[in-house]
Order: sequence, then structure tokens, then C-alpha cells
Amino acid sequence: MCESIILSIETSCDETAASVIKDGKEILSNEVVTQMMTHKKFGGVVPEVASRQHVEVITRVVDEALKNAEMTMEEIDAIAVTEGPGLIGALLVGVASAKALAFSYQKPLIPVHHIAGHIYANNLIQPLQFPLMALIVSGGHTELIYMEDHLNFEIIGETRDDAVGEAYDKVARTIGLPYPGGPEVDRLAEIGQDNLNFPRVWLEKDSYDFSFSGLKSAVINTLHNKRQKNEEIIPEDVATSFQNSVVEVLVGKTMSAIKEYKVDQLVVAGGVAANKGLRKVLAQECEREQIELKIPPLNLCTDNAAMIGSVAHYLYINGKTADMKLNGKSSLDIEMMD
Ligand code: KG4
Ligand code: ZN
Repeated sequence: MCESIILSIETSCDETAASVIKDGKEILSNEVVTQMMTHKKFGGVVPEVASRQHVEVITRVVDEALKNAEMTMEEIDAIAVTEGPGLIGALLVGVASAKALAFSYQKPLIPVHHIAGHIYANNLIQPLQFPLMALIVSGGHTELIYMEDHLNFEIIGETRDDAVGEAYDKVARTIGLPYPGGPEVDRLAEIGQDNLNFPRVWLEKDSYDFSFSGLKSAVINTLHNKRQKNEEIIPEDVATSFQNSVVEVLVGKTMSAIKEYKVDQLVVAGGVAANKGLRKVLAQECEREQIELKIPPLNLCTDNAAMIGSVAHYLYINGKTADMKLNGKSSLDIEMMD
């Protein structure tokens, strides 16, 4: 018997998304309108522009999600929406739309944490098994999260400065690559040499926190010095040297955490999970340590509403709903969710 049919909405950054999800596991529809081409012109996401574009398309995206799932609002059990973290103006568009639907159709309203969504993208491929370790790597987040059960999140490490995707985008800009730079750096990293001796930032012994701003500065300083001395800069070598440093630290800390917490399942999520170098090294290490590695397909790695609908199912069956006072939150603690 079906426990829930949830309409979910996600507008935390530059994707306007809506989805219909059955029982937290089955995607009945998954609509995403990306603003990437608009923000490319500015070299990054412009918050005010993002909010306006969400307003322009949200109604159509929600309608499409219902239509493609062959569902009417009467058949929907609850409305879920990303509450945060994210760009406040962008979040508000999704929250206001979800509240309007919940109010007019008298449906429960379920607020969802964006990062929980990224983890639960994997639940749409294969049910999550606990305990697990999750590595979240995106444009806004870099976190290691331990989960003992559904909705039970313990952050054991996080970035102290830049998120990994942010570091990729900044390094890409420094070597003259277009936004978003992550995929471009990844492409060049496949063919360059690791010959620039960039640092590996491990922080204190036993810390699972990350720091990427020192590495970013090292890249910028190296390029600056080379330019002053009129030395040749080989973008491919910059990309490989940078990526190797990032991947070594990400994978090193993740594998240590897996051992300490004695889990046998690693879930990777967020836009940087698309990185070929990271995937390759994680796959090698997980195979060697006999850890089950789960990375969602690309369309579920980047922002979408299906992942929000998956988390919402577990909140729904536990009665975790919100009232009409719900607001978007630019920062939001994932550990407070259960
Ligand atoms: O999860 P996401 O789509 O949006 C956020 O919630 O932040 O992540 C976007 C980030 C961008 O910084 C982008 O440059 C990075 O993911 N990214 C990559 C790759 N593909 C996307 N970074 C490294 N290698 C990639 N292949
Ligand atoms: Zn995201």
C-alpha cells in the first residue's frame, strides 16, 4: 500500500525544481529549470536575478511536475519545500509557493533541509542502509555526515572556509575558464601533470574538518608569481595539481571517518560528486576497504526537488509538519531535524 505521494519544491539556489515522489523512493516526475546560462554571464550566481527567475517559472514547473506524474492536487498527500540553507530570496519563492498550495488545498506542509535532500538523492536509486557516512560536496557545502538511522544526522566534519565547489569555481576563474568552473577544471585535470606542489591541508590531527582557502590562495599566488616572472602557465598542470590536492584530502578524511565510525556504506552527494578524479579515487579506496560506494546519477547530484520529496516522506510519516509561519532560512542546522 502506498504511504505517501508528495509534491516537493526546491528553489534554494539557481534551479527551480518540482517533483512528485511516491513513498520517498519512486520518482513519478522530476522537473528542473536551471538558470545557469543567465548566471554564466556574471561569472557566478547573482541572488537577486535568481529570485526573479524563480518567480517567473515556479508555477509552470509545479504544473509540469503534476502533469508528468499524472496527478491532481487532490491526490497529493503533502507539499514539501526546501526551508534552507540557501539564498534567502530564492528560498522564499519556493516556501511562499508551497504555503499557498498547502493552504488552498488544505494539505500538510513539510519543511526540508537542503543537505538532507542531497543525501536522500541516493534513496531514490537504492534504499539507504544504516549506519552510513555521507560526503557532501557542492558549491555551497563540504561536509562529512554520520547517519545512524533515517533523519538522524551528525556532522562530524565541515569546511571552515570555502566549499569545495566554490574553490573549484574560483580556481577556474583564475585560469580563465568559464563559470561554473568545476567541470572545466575536472576536464583539464585529466590531461595535466601534478608538478606545482600545492599544499594538502589536513588541519589538526584527527579533525574531519576541511579548509580550501589556503589551497586557493596557493594557486592564485603561484599564477601571480609566474606571470610576474613571465613564466609559462600550463592550465592543465594547474588543474591537475589543484584537483589532486583536493581529492587526496577529501578521500583521506572520508576513509578515516569510515574506519573510525565503522560503517560499510559511503554515500556521496552534491554537484562535485560529478568530479571524475574524485569518483575514481573513491571507487579505488572503497573497493580496497570493501566499502559500498553510492553516488547518484548526475541529474540527482545537482539540485533537484526529487531529493527533497524523498526526505519529506520520512518527515511526513513521523508527523513533522510546519504551519503557515514557515519561512526560508539562509542557514539551518541539519542536526536539529529529527
Ligand atoms: O550541488 P550543486 O549543483 O549546487 C549547490 O548546491 O551548490 O553544486 C555546484 C558545484 C559548482 O561549484 C560546480 O563547479 C561544481 O559543483 N561541479 C564540479 C563538477 N561538476 C560540478 N566540481 C568539480 N568537478 C566537476 N566535474
Ligand atoms: Zn545543492
